[in-house]
Amino acid sequence: MSDMRIALVTGANKGIGLETARRLGQAGVTVLLGARDPDRGTEAAARLGGLPVVPLLLDVTDPGSVAAAAKRIEDEYGRLDILVNNAGVLTGWGRPADLTAADFRAAYEVNVFGVVTVTNAVLPLLRRGPAGRIVNVSSAMGSLTLQAAPDSQIPIMSYSSSKAALNGLTVAYAADLRDTPITVVSVDPGYCATDLNRHTGSRSAAEGAVVVAGAALREAGVDSGRFLGDGGEVPW
Ligand SMILES: NC(=O)c1ccc[n+]([C@@H]2O[C@H](COP(=O)([O-])OP(=O)(O)OC[C@H]3O[C@@H](n4cnc5c(N)ncnc54)[C@H](OP(=O)(O)O)[C@@H]3O)[C@@H](O)[C@H]2O)c1
Repeated sequence: MSDMRIALVTGANKGIGLETARRLGQAGVTVLLGARDPDRGTEAAARLGGLPVVPLLLDVTDPGSVAAAAKRIEDEYGRLDILVNNAGVLTGWGRPADLTAADFRAAYEVNVFGVVTVTNAVLPLLRRGPAGRIVNVSSAMGSLTLQAAPDSQIPIMSYSSSKAALNGLTVAYAADLRDTPITVVSVDPGYCATDLNRHTGSRSAAEGAVVVAGAALREAGVDSGRFLGDGGEVPW
């Protein structure tokens, strides 16, 4: 078994996930770069040439793909130290009354159910390491406190609801794993210019990855079950 820490970043072929993989690799972590398309994964890993980054085929909505990825991690590394649930989609702009359940389902399939599928598949591997770390890439748009504020600027959409549900998963897993060394946090990378928002974000994906990778690399400790941004605590 390798002494290097092993991390899996889902949806890491571009955007914040790719930059998170870069930062983790630069920190000496072996990074499994999750991508649902084999060519996009291979090309992204090649862009991080020189770093300990390996492409891993992984569609978070496909249980067979997730199981195969978990088996490959077990066979080749024997454990996992860091899981970054980064894969995400933004769907369903509009008033709730104008959206359909299918709009919500599309967001939840990746942003919520995919996280459950991946987390449960690799949890046995996280338990084998000394201090497993799970980082759920959420968003300030998932903050119920900010959504409910009378002067809220957060667009109403299925995405925001899905990120609130993701935060619920963070709280649930953190509570369930309280008596283990495994810690679980939600992070808000800030508003980053990526394909997700047609590059309207005010900061770069690399700046967002500072928050995500920072949370992934932090010493296990008191932050489990919290929602963190680069300004500190984000309200639930
Ligand atoms: N950008 C922001 O301002 C912002 C702010 C807060 C939170 N976030 C969160 O940050 C995370 C990364 O977003 P981003 O802005 O970097 O967006 P992005 O550039 O669009 O990247 C999204 C990634 O998720 C992958 N993905 C989508 N569906 C997948 C699936 N079923 N299985 C595996 N991978 C899948 C995409 O793969 P393909 O290339 O194959 O589509 C891509 O690699 C998301 O969770 C997002 O909600 C973003």
